[in-house]
Amino acid sequence: MTLKFDVLTPMIGARVHLDRTTLRNPATARELLQLLERHTVLVFPRLNLSDEEQLALTGALGGNVNIAARIAGRENAEAVYQVSLNEGVRIEKEYVLGTFFWHMDGLTVDIPPPKATVLTARHLAAAGGQTEFASTKAAYAALPAEEKAGLEGLRVVHTVTAALREIMHPEDVDAARRALRHEHPLVWARADGTKSLVIGATADLITGKSQAESRAILSRLLEWTVQPAFTYRHSWALGDCVVWDNTCALHRVIPYATDSGRMMHRTAIAGTEPVT
Ligand code: OGA
Ligand code: MN
Repeated sequence: MTLKFDVLTPMIGARVHLDRTTLRNPATARELLQLLERHTVLVFPRLNLSDEEQLALTGALGGNVNIAARIAGRENAEAVYQVSLNEGVRIEKEYVLGTFFWHMDGLTVDIPPPKATVLTARHLAAAGGQTEFASTKAAYAALPAEEKAGLEGLRVVHTVTAALREIMHPEDVDAARRALRHEHPLVWARADGTKSLVIGATADLITGKSQAESRAILSRLLEWTVQPAFTYRHSWALGDCVVWDNTCALHRVIPYATDSGRMMHRTAIAGTEPVT
């Protein structure tokens, strides 16, 4: 390993010192992917990537996938997604408000979930706006054995309406988003041999269980996963870039005001593994 890095917490997070001129270097990409596998969340302080550089980094780490463009009517969504509640920029306010709740990206569309998400801070909120990450892989590993056994074979339906249940009536969600639903195994046996929990705000119902039983299991797993030992909270500085493994982490943003001006530029690294 030639890259310099500091471990942020034992279970999740590393700060990496990256020289922008090495972004397109395959050897650097290999080391970054190793660090991502080990630490789940990589923080690059004040990297100040341009959109072009962010796309280059995303490409070097496995290729860009445009999840916003998977929604009917949004096929022309820009390659770099502007995560913001700013008037004028924001045509998908409810969707961005949904990022205030723990979630994984891309679980409601029919493609392998993005391997990782890349976020650059372009404008900070004066209050709130920190992003939190929770390791679903560390959380699963630490579950009691009998609870793991009880989760074997369960499947869970993820929907956009479930993700927005705290902020909208399902009938007010626009039709294209309301149609988004996808069923996944609740426990993801990943190619690297570890297992991850496929949970979060989009998790609606466990197949074959009542709503009450589903919510009991899903709430318990969510609370277990977001306990402090498995989480890292990032307080952004302008220009920071964070890359996180979306296959084994939940994330959410601490609420910020709709007129805060907060602006993040997001890209996603194409998933290689369907959830199995
Ligand atoms: C997202 C997201 C977090 C943030 O865009 O999917 O979760 O901190 N963003 O804005
Ligand atoms: Mn997200």
